[in-house]
Amino acid sequence: KDSPKGATMYVTLEPCVHFGKTPPCVDAIIKSGIKRVVVCEKDPNPIVNGKGISQLRERGIKVDMYDTKGVVRSINCGFNKWIVEKKPYAIVKIASTLDGKIADRRGDSKYLTGESIRRAVHKMRYRSDAILIGAQTVIKDDPLLDCRLFIQTSSKKPARVVVDGNLRLNPEYRIFREDGALRIILTSKTAYDRKIRLLKRFESIGVQIVPFKTQDGVILIKDILEYLGSMNILYMLVEGGQRVFTDFIDSKEADLLVMNMSPRVFGAGGIGFYSGDREYKFSQLHYLPYESMIFDRDVLISYYREGSDVYGIDRSYSLD
Ligand SMILES: NC(=O)c1ccc[n+]([C@@H]2O[C@H](COP(=O)([O-])OP(=O)(O)OC[C@H]3O[C@@H](n4cnc5c(N)ncnc54)[C@H](OP(=O)(O)O)[C@@H]3O)[C@@H](O)[C@H]2O)c1
Repeated sequence: KDSPKGATMYVTLEPCVHFGKTPPCVDAIIKSGIKRVVVCEKDPNPIVNGKGISQLRERGIKVDMYDTKGVVRSINCGFNKWIVEKKPYAIVKIASTLDGKIADRRGDSKYLTGESIRRAVHKMRYRSDAILIGAQTVIKDDPLLDCRLFIQTSSKKPARVVVDGNLRLNPEYRIFREDGALRIILTSKTAYDRKIRLLKRFESIGVQIVPFKTQDGVILIKDILEYLGSMNILYMLVEGGQRVFTDFIDSKEADLLVMNMSPRVFGAGGIGFYSGDREYKFSQLHYLPYESMIFDRDVLISYYREGSDVYGIDRSYSLD
């Protein structure tokens, strides 16, 4: 009674035709005697892309496509992007006031939004493979970047990644504490070659330092994403601060912008999330509104980049 012979199989992604970590799924399906396969998405991987479906059909197995109206596409969005571009799906999450400020005049941004929306953010962290922030946010906020409001203990811990071009940080910050998460500092080659003693201190507590070439002292976001893609990071949550948000907007590398807005105003002295000198019309930035949700007194609004898949927001933000 356990034989799959004659059965129908339901899959989110088209079965593969190549040897990866496992042999081709198509061969196993053919061998099993399964008679019908229902597929939700064609595999965007160029070495599969329709071949799985046609090979099954050639062997007399009925294949039906099932339209989930984008739901499965959004579940697979990290994989879909990574398999084609070899870069993670980048979600840029910005907590702001009504006047678009991410910190007050003293640079204080802690607990700008309420606990309910922060719990949802901790769930997004949990679903991510990596969380990225800039060095100044570490210095200013000394964040933990854990998922404690969503889950207390877990074997899955997203990697914590800090961009620190001049290697200004030291191992005392909380982000570098040892808790089983991968901890990575991305720095310039110049700082890497210069600060050998500091490198040794970081290495002694298991923090990886990765040197990058720079352009006018800046590590390009594209290079960061390519590096993280090579580490099999599929989903990346970008949590600031201003400089990092600005670079992601200017480089057009953000797939999803998530604005978590609190009903406050910080005024002219507050720090905005964009410090660049460009002005973008819609036709230059191409972000479309996707969803809005209310969390007590705060509002979450997300925008996806035209052409990008939409991240499965329901699953990440709803708290069950
Ligand atoms: N509300 C929110 O969502 C939120 C989130 C996070 C932070 N914040 C607030 O934002 C403020 C910090 O923002 P910020 O703009 O000063 O700092 P930041 O973006 O956290 O960090 C900027 C620093 O990180 C390094 N860095 C970042 N990107 C780099 C790149 N591509 N290449 C090389 N180095 C890079 C640079 O260090 P070097 O200058 O040494 O090269 C740069 O000065 C704080 O007030 C914090 O509280 C708010």
